[in-house]
Amino acid sequence: MANLEVAAAGVVFPNPIIVGSASPSMDWIGTKKGIDGGAGGVIVKSLFSEKGKLGRNFPRPRFKLYDYKNYPGYPNVLPHAFTLNSLEECSHFGYKEYMEDVNKAKDAIGDKGIVMASLSGVSLDEWIEMCQLVNETTADWVELNVSCPFAADMGVKMGAGAVEMTAEVVKTCKNLLKIPFSVKISPQTVDQSVVALACQEAGAMAVNISARFSGYDLDIETARPIGPGAQGGWGGPYLIGYGLKNAAITARKVNIPIIAGLGVWDWKDIIKYTMVGATLVQSGIGIMLKGYDVSKRWAESINLWLEAKGYKSIDEIRGIALSNILKTSEVERQPVGVYAKIDTDKCTKCGICKRSCFYDAISLTKIGAIIDSKKCDGCGMCVEVCPANAVSIARPQVRV
Ligand SMILES: Cc1cc2nc3c(=O)[nH]c(=O)nc-3n(C[C@H](O)[C@H](O)[C@H](O)COP(=O)(O)O)c2cc1C
Ligand code: SF4
Ligand code: SF4
Repeated sequence: MANLEVAAAGVVFPNPIIVGSASPSMDWIGTKKGIDGGAGGVIVKSLFSEKGKLGRNFPRPRFKLYDYKNYPGYPNVLPHAFTLNSLEECSHFGYKEYMEDVNKAKDAIGDKGIVMASLSGVSLDEWIEMCQLVNETTADWVELNVSCPFAADMGVKMGAGAVEMTAEVVKTCKNLLKIPFSVKISPQTVDQSVVALACQEAGAMAVNISARFSGYDLDIETARPIGPGAQGGWGGPYLIGYGLKNAAITARKVNIPIIAGLGVWDWKDIIKYTMVGATLVQSGIGIMLKGYDVSKRWAESINLWLEAKGYKSIDEIRGIALSNILKTSEVERQPVGVYAKIDTDKCTKCGICKRSCFYDAISLTKIGAIIDSKKCDGCGMCVEVCPANAVSIARPQVRV
């Protein structure tokens, strides 16, 4: 068995999988289910301060999935590129109930997993009050959620003025908090790594990269946003490329632990985030749509993969991809002799490749599509669009 334990800010997590702060962790029962389902830690759904308390009541319905259950093979086969739009702001609880609920979660979970509270204030006075209250709980950790797109008059503003405002909140809370804490950073900011560095310099013990985007789709018959009618959280597994890039840039800049995760959909995504430097990896949509127990399956698969590769612990793969990620200026350009070739036995003459070849290199003939290798640029688009997998890229022979 490979060792999946990870340590962050002096806290040892049984494994790196974190149930993100969302519907699954809305109360102590869900938080316990998260740990029983195999996660190493759970970030409890955020407590909004009194100024943001409107968010404690949610619109109904509030979830809309695009391109999900119309996927061929659903529910046995799930899509990888879909969107969840949701308008579910914070915990239903006020201050007192929230703190009691966190205590119940820790009582029920004990040493089996890490209970992480999550706070979201508007004014500094509120942050101070909330930190004082969370200090009195048995929470193992607290997250400062300065990134929620909904926190009254705050989330998006944080995106714009993130560096200064976040640092101010972090400095204030750091002086008060008696438990380890992370700061959750919005993806709707110029550069998450700059905000993360500002957090580190202000005394943050860990950063969370990241919260979700916000947006909506529009119904053209009514000219209204679909769903509750306002911006909601907007995201899905397709965002993992954005998440990995930001986690990697941040990992190069800071030396505090990173909780990463945007678009985690299977166990490989957890390995990917670890390879770009994350210590802990959170999932929101993954847990919501695959169920609490998915964490167990993910942990088992990670374990098997690590063992098969000869790694003794997950710590051994942390950051190993960073040196392989090139600057765009370092990428090899214009290699000669790279061009597409078509297996005419497989070609159905559908013409899809031809319409997407902007070098005019493809002609449709009686025997199938044919490529003029003098015109072909080797861009690879025809390979990607051919429904018959009839196209491949020929690479120059390399002499050894
Ligand atoms: C329905 C829903 C509710 C959420 N509520 C919160 C919240 O209360 N506090 C918070 O910090 N993040 C919240 N999030 C964001 C998640 O904690 C997490 O950052 C995000 O979902 C990660 O991306 P993923 O869903 O692609 O895994 C919510 C996400 C969803 C989908
Ligand atoms: S590789 Fe690009 S340029 Fe060459 S045939 Fe295919 S689409 Fe056209
Ligand atoms: S897309 Fe594929 S099957 Fe269709 S014409 Fe091109 S090579 Fe043939």
